[in-house]
Amino acid sequence: MTDPTRAVEDRAAAGFTTQYGGQAAGRWAAPGRVNLIGEHTDYNEGFVLPFALPLRTVVAADRQDAEQWTVWSELSGETITFGADDVAEAGRVTGWGAYVAGVVWALREAGHRVPGARLAIASDVPLGSGLSSSAALESAVLAALLDLGGLELPAELQPRLAQRAENVYVGAPTGIMDQSAVIRCCAGHALFLDCRDESVEQIPFDLDAAGLAVLVIDSRAPHRHADGEYAARRRSCEAGASALGVPALRDVGVDQLDTALAQLDDEETRRRVRHVVTEDQRVLDTVALLRAARVRDIGPLLTASHVSMRDDFEITVPEIDTAVEAALAAGALGARMTGGGFGGCVLALIEADRADEVTAAVEAAYAERGFTAPGTVTVLPSPGATRLP
Ligand code: GLA
Repeated sequence: MTDPTRAVEDRAAAGFTTQYGGQAAGRWAAPGRVNLIGEHTDYNEGFVLPFALPLRTVVAADRQDAEQWTVWSELSGETITFGADDVAEAGRVTGWGAYVAGVVWALREAGHRVPGARLAIASDVPLGSGLSSSAALESAVLAALLDLGGLELPAELQPRLAQRAENVYVGAPTGIMDQSAVIRCCAGHALFLDCRDESVEQIPFDLDAAGLAVLVIDSRAPHRHADGEYAARRRSCEAGASALGVPALRDVGVDQLDTALAQLDDEETRRRVRHVVTEDQRVLDTVALLRAARVRDIGPLLTASHVSMRDDFEITVPEIDTAVEAALAAGALGARMTGGGFGGCVLALIEADRADEVTAAVEAAYAERGFTAPGTVTVLPSPGATRLP
């Protein structure tokens, strides 16, 4: 067991020494993320606006001569080893090791000579909370392998490669947001990403200057069929785009929404399409307000996004809705679920000095309904994946 009071980079370095002896050649960190707004828009080739969290995954690593990868993780306490055969084909390594093997596989598939390596992983990003612990792991491993092998892969191409590891090797049909956020976010900014061409703009998100804070509330809701439901939402969106004769729902503007909805026979598809089309517009509206330094004014857009996810996309659960309602009732300027849905986290935009009150209100609402107590933390937009000094 590692000592949880030590900083994550120290735990990774110490884990390396305990497991393999000697010092690691370096340490690479990648953060978790929250999405400020723009949910289930990424695979519809639309817009998202995530920012990186101060919670990070750190990989301490060095090269080894054999074409072999040895990986220790503090989370399971296990060490796994895989070789060239295991990364010759997707899916051969399973469990958490698949995210590591998937990156090796994706790099090799893209024609890179990946060095054998010994890796030790420590993380402050909670698993299964919708904060992209998997993208953080993939991206930290990717950064380590690129540096150790002297491989060239521009930052703007790294998210696709890490996403392939997850989509093809691990087998999760997720979009491009998480890996983009983890790799391309900058401190003090939210990342405005156009998921069609992957162009980005760093949008200043200065909470301190506005006297505000973002409170992240871990709903602690058990994931209920999240994978199957995610895939089902994706299929509905594709069906909607196909019925409307457009390449992706991104191509339907809010001004065309009524006409588009009138063309769809299926009521459920209509709701799904309405969420995506209005959500893309909410991202654009949020970006416009942030560009004008009107941080406070984005609150209603966050809440409208939540209502749309609850009523039209139907991806929220009672714990999540309770957290949002309690935060708003306690004075949050806006609140919404963040991430794929069916559990995970809520974010609330609050006055900086009201974190305790809002936290207490959410805890009380949870206690009243008999839910497992939520976790809360205030966060600032933090740096993306990087090599540590
Ligand atoms: C998960 C996926 C992302 C994105 C979100 C919903 O986090 O990994 O690609 O689709 O859900 O916005």
